[in-house]
Amino acid sequence: MQKGLFITLEGIEGAGKSSLMDYISELFTRAGHEVIQTREPGGTDTGEQIRKVLLDSNNSGLESSTELLLMFAARRQHIEEVIRPALALDQIVICDRFTDASYAYQGGGRGIEESRIKTLEDWVQLGLKPSLTLLFDLDVEIGLHRAGRRSQADRFEQEDILLFKRIRSCYLHRANNEPKRFRIIDAGKSLENVKQQTYKVLQKYL
Ligand code: TMP
Repeated sequence: MQKGLFITLEGIEGAGKSSLMDYISELFTRAGHEVIQTREPGGTDTGEQIRKVLLDSNNSGLESSTELLLMFAARRQHIEEVIRPALALDQIVICDRFTDASYAYQGGGRGIEESRIKTLEDWVQLGLKPSLTLLFDLDVEIGLHRAGRRSQADRFEQEDILLFKRIRSCYLHRANNEPKRFRIIDAGKSLENVKQQTYKVLQKYL
């Protein structure tokens, strides 16, 4: 049986996942748990180097399968080096994006067949899955507006709005197909309200 608790945060750009990370972490820490905060792509030295390649807007020619494979290469390292060891120590792992992002961005967004992504998922994860996935859902226009205000656009943020609409619907489709694992949070609300929704979901795990 998988020990610890593996929680992933998902959503389109500007959904506010990163702001909620500290809040969630604090809830678990206050309840006496040991918490690891991490992210994908990234989470290890190698993974962070891969992340640079993936987000670099100079790499505009990156082919979608290359993008997918790099995501899973970083993920494999992350699982072996960080996630599995932490779960084995019964820690709470909170990860900003994981494999649902590959299905949503490279699958729904870029059009790679789901079966290919599933093959990589099975190979790389060997059965590891999040116990809980919080989907921070909001209108694409609002999300991109928020993300645009934050910083200079990376390679993903420069993409067309239609891509993000496909990504959002893929996320929602996955959430509806796996209601036990997913909880949808309305991220269009105020930060205070989003925190309250998040607390309600996490209460029983604290
Ligand atoms: P971030 O901005 O949330 O840190 O994520 C970096 C970008 O990487 C974001 O635009 C989503 C994208 N991404 C994928 O396309 N596929 C994946 O599997 C992951 C983990 C992220």
